[in-house]
Amino acid sequence: MDKVVDKFGRPVRDLRISVTDRCNFRCTYCMPKEIFGNDYVFLPREELLTFEEITRSAYLFALLGVEKLRLTGGEPLLRRGLPNLIKQLSKINGIKDIGLTTNAVLLGQYAEELYDAGLRRLNISLDALDPFVFGEMNGRGTNPQIVLKNIELAKEMGFQIKVNMVVQKGVNEHEIVPMAMHFKERGMTLRFIEFMDVGNDNAWSFKKVVTKKEIFTLLQSEFELEPVDADYFGEVAQRYRYKDNGVEVGFITSVSESFCSSCTRARLSSDGKLYTCLFASDGFDLRELIRSGKSDEQLLKAITDVWKTRTDRYSDERTEETAKKRKKINMSYIGG
Ligand code: GTP
Ligand code: 5AD
Ligand code: SF4
Ligand code: SF4
Repeated sequence: MDKVVDKFGRPVRDLRISVTDRCNFRCTYCMPKEIFGNDYVFLPREELLTFEEITRSAYLFALLGVEKLRLTGGEPLLRRGLPNLIKQLSKINGIKDIGLTTNAVLLGQYAEELYDAGLRRLNISLDALDPFVFGEMNGRGTNPQIVLKNIELAKEMGFQIKVNMVVQKGVNEHEIVPMAMHFKERGMTLRFIEFMDVGNDNAWSFKKVVTKKEIFTLLQSEFELEPVDADYFGEVAQRYRYKDNGVEVGFITSVSESFCSSCTRARLSSDGKLYTCLFASDGFDLRELIRSGKSDEQLLKAITDVWKTRTDRYSDERTEETAKKRKKINMSYIGG
């Protein structure tokens, strides 16, 4: 099959698949509880892509050059039977890597089944070690010990783990060094994520962003770091390692140093809409085509047409104005 590239010559390499729009957390920067309250209407079950539909979509994307899959949510472990989906996805020709992004609260329950299904990579969100700070940020008062315990358990089982920390000015900046120390000592990669203006509800402003430069300066006062080369074209994180023990640390700099020029990511929402950017307003209804009985060739043509006309580079062009005015999909709906 011919290589499909978008208007800026970017191929499609990764598919991020959201398996549910629900979450057991209410992180202030993603699903603030004031908006995602008891009366918030989530997608009904019949609207979600079935595992067969997800697997078929992933198979088609693999034909177009996708090698990496990432399962996200909401919280993906809330989707019943997730290990079965992983089993199906692992069998697709051309897929070299499958990862799962989770808050790890339910990991103790599912880690073994996930491992047996073939999953090896986990990206786990944790924003603070301090119980009060973490409890406030996750909106549920959940104690970080639950997450830390499940991280240890998954590590012992043999999972490769990265920890994601979203940093917000005046909220968890003081947790940067304690988090770095904690995960450095335990030999796990911690990645600092600049707070982004995803969705329309997280009251984002440039003033609330702690930039990579600021975080790096802070880390340099405690540790000696050296850069590590990117693993592959379009890697999201900028990577460094501690000189004394070689453990890695990363930065995801969507705000201060955008990485749109190498963005090879397509996103599939849990109700089967295809998005070509995390900050898109509209998606392409793939589910509609699947459920109307279209052939693989017809679906491939539709996906190719979407990718070929892609011009997204939101983070390159972000201003305070676009952040406020543009109607964007919610992070919990598209999974980051
Ligand atoms: P691996 O590199 O495969 O380990 O995963 P990842 O870092 O791509 O995925 P993860 O789900 O851990 O995402 C980490 C952070 O990067 C989240 O805050 C995502 O929203 C953000 N992110 C991932 N892809 C993009 C992207 O294309 N654009 C922007 N702006 N942010 C992204
Ligand atoms: N800015 C940056 N990262 C975010 N995430 C969720 N919302 C935001 C935001 N507004 C992160 C989560 C998780 C990953 C999928 O995206 O913490 O680690
Ligand atoms: Fe849930 Fe992740 Fe969003 Fe937090 S960031 S509310 S854990 S989906
Ligand atoms: Fe890709 Fe959009 Fe993120 Fe830029 S802002 S890196 S185009 S998803």
